[in-house]
Amino acid sequence: MIPAYANFGGKIHGGILLSLMDKVAYAAASKHAGTYCVTVSVDGVNFLQPVEVGELVSLLASVNYVGRTSLLVGIKVIAEDVRSGTVKHTNTCYFTMVAKDDEGRPTVVPGLSLETPEDSRRFLEAIKRREFKDQYRQEFDNVRSRLALVEQPYLLEGERCRVDYDINQ
Ligand SMILES: CC(C)(COP(=O)(O)OP(=O)(O)OC[C@H]1O[C@@H](n2cnc3c(N)ncnc32)[C@H](O)[C@@H]1OP(=O)(O)O)[C@@H](O)C(=O)NCCC(=O)NCCS
Repeated sequence: MIPAYANFGGKIHGGILLSLMDKVAYAAASKHAGTYCVTVSVDGVNFLQPVEVGELVSLLASVNYVGRTSLLVGIKVIAEDVRSGTVKHTNTCYFTMVAKDDEGRPTVVPGLSLETPEDSRRFLEAIKRREFKDQYRQEFDNVRSRLALVEQPYLLEGERCRVDYDINQ
């Protein structure tokens, strides 16, 4: 990680790491699909520990799951202090990619060969991850459509904000 990647605090910009993850996800997905792929969504991006200038960052990726035209790529990011040999895990996240044909339409990807128990675990986890995400999206949409401060002013109790307009307007 070179100094040009640092933020004002001297740590590596989260955006630099995200950009690297996106490229690695693309490489893994397109190699499996044998086509051009696009990023559809990114889940689980949490920067658990800062990455320092001078550290050696490695991104480990695997295609964990395939649907019809989509692929779920898991990425683990580790950063190593090459002088001390200390390695830290900074992030694990999941990129959903979609394979595209030459006309830009989603295209069917090859099935996945599960060669180890680890492969099976990742595949099964991906199915659950997808189910929970759909469930969360549905439930959140449901709650969001019913959120109204005028009817539920108590929702802001204990929150660090002040309502500076007439909520009955
Ligand atoms: C993602 C995209 C291909 C979906 O197109 P679409 O016409 O809606 O296609 P489909 O409904 O057939 O969906 C294709 C696949 O994407 C999946 N998908 C679509 N939206 C998704 C989302 N928000 N999250 C996860 N998967 C999604 C579908 O489940 C489907 O997967 P499957 O074939 O394995 O079952 C299209 O919206 C697109 O091209 N988006 C722009 C992507 C891009 O340019 N990314 C670069 C970063 S800006």
